[in-house]
Amino acid sequence: MAIFEWKDEYKIGIPAIDYEHQDLFDFVNRLHDDFIKGCEKGEIEDCLGDIHARMQAHFALEEKVMRDRHYPYFAEHKKSHDAFLDEFVETMKKFRSDPGLAFREELEQELKDWIVDHVLHEDRKMSLMAR
Ligand SMILES: [Fe+2]
Repeated sequence: MAIFEWKDEYKIGIPAIDYEHQDLFDFVNRLHDDFIKGCEKGEIEDCLGDIHARMQAHFALEEKVMRDRHYPYFAEHKKSHDAFLDEFVETMKKFRSDPGLAFREELEQELKDWIVDHVLHEDRKMSLMAR
């Protein structure tokens, strides 16, 4: 069941980016399903690895759009992407040593909060200012 629901208000108006944002929501929902099903640690790790890879590819797309459009806040936006990826790598390491339920919930919540906040604020700002 999807607990991380995509809403039209999350669209930023750049179709390729909107499409990938929706895809990221799907991946977080898949992670949630894995948690619910009580998947093995290894399967969760694979799912986290997929999310990391998707995020990396997605940030590369956003950064290309920003560079192409000479977005004035490129540096700070990229910094936020890099910080997220660094944190996510730490989270994956933490999961390896503490795959318990409490940490799963915390991880899922953090992931959702970060994505929604980033999409609604930084990505929207980019789409408005980088035309
Ligand atoms: Fe972004």
